[in-house]
Amino acid sequence: MSERPNETEAAVRAALAKVIDPELRRPITELGMVKSVTVAADGGVHVEVYLTTAACPKKTEISERVAAAVADVPGTGAVKVSLDVMSDEQRTELRKQLRGDAREPVIPFAQPGSLTRVYAVASGKGGVGKSSVTVNLAAAMAARGLSVGVLDADIYGHSVPRMMGTTDRPTQVESMILPPVAHDVRIISIAMFTQGNTPVVWRGPMLHRALQQFLSDVYWGDLDVLLLDLPPGTGDVAISVAQLIPSAEILVVTTPQLAAAEVAERAGAIALQTRQRIVGVVENMSGLVLPDGTTMQVFGEGGGRQVAERLTTAVGADVPLLGQVPLDPALVSAGDSGVPLVLSAPDSAAGKELRNIADTLSARKRGLAGMSLGLDPAGR
Ligand SMILES: Nc1ncnc2c1ncn2[C@@H]1O[C@H](COP(=O)(O)OP(=O)(O)OP(=O)(O)O)[C@@H](O)[C@H]1O
Ligand SMILES: [Mg+2]
Repeated sequence: MSERPNETEAAVRAALAKVIDPELRRPITELGMVKSVTVAADGGVHVEVYLTTAACPKKTEISERVAAAVADVPGTGAVKVSLDVMSDEQRTELRKQLRGDAREPVIPFAQPGSLTRVYAVASGKGGVGKSSVTVNLAAAMAARGLSVGVLDADIYGHSVPRMMGTTDRPTQVESMILPPVAHDVRIISIAMFTQGNTPVVWRGPMLHRALQQFLSDVYWGDLDVLLLDLPPGTGDVAISVAQLIPSAEILVVTTPQLAAAEVAERAGAIALQTRQRIVGVVENMSGLVLPDGTTMQVFGEGGGRQVAERLTTAVGADVPLLGQVPLDPALVSAGDSGVPLVLSAPDSAAGKELRNIADTLSARKRGLAGMSLGLDPAGR
């Protein structure tokens, strides 16, 4: 029994300040989502919560988080949570609070002083493991406590949502798109905007506009790292990324196969033209460890090192081989089950290697990012 409802109310509000909105990832009190708190003489608490939209996919989760937080406050009895929906004015206020009042959508990562490191995961050839590497690096970095986003820029292939195990659709608050969160990573994919498996046939300018929209209209919050999963090849998307976020750094994925390595090298070489920095090379599918402990070099050897060396010479700056991820059937099933290998089997050989690469990339200071390579652009 609470004899001091006012004190209980203050304690309830303090508890609500610790309830984080699953999509906006900020306390609901800061987001103007607490409509009212009423404490009855018997300690019963009634909390009214504003949702951003009626279709909010997280309404159950939000109610549960609120109820749990209030139940933990000493002196409270039965908890009732009811939901209401923000008015247009409230949504406009919220958007302004989160995004500022800018008329034109801006790409936060392209602003001077942005502290987000942007890595564009690229390869010349398809099927070398870009998407697998992207989701595993993202999950490993998020598990390390970084705030991470993944933009599935593979408009045709889009496999990121499946590999991250989410079928959620983004919520829209006015012109702002809230990315679904899976394994603590904010994810946006074109797959979330299309029906079923319908392939999207988009031409260059539309791709550019889609990317621009994903980068500017999506509320990414303060990210430490944004990973872009690029489609294979040296195409339009890579060039758009370079235009939209000049400070994005390229992470080249290849297999040990020398033919694949040559293609990867070409993909890396476009960074020369766009004057983007190449952060390093990941060799994927590097050998299969057999039950007797020996390694079978299924796709040959040396591709990763070769790409790293050739790119180093080409750009005149060190392009390291960041790691060699072995072939592992568990990586395939992890991708299918929606739990990245670094979470489901962090101590497997492939899991460890991917976590090491994530650590290297997380530890890097962003200071050099976006700096010109100091190369003569003549001959573009
Ligand atoms: N180290 C690995 N061991 C075993 N299988 C792997 C490994 N890396 C990736 N794969 C598998 O290879 C296939 C291709 O991987 P993924 O989709 O990540 O490549 P991608 O480069 O993104 O392909 P795309 O060019 O089609 O976008 C997937 O089935 C994936 O599970
Ligand atoms: Mg892919």
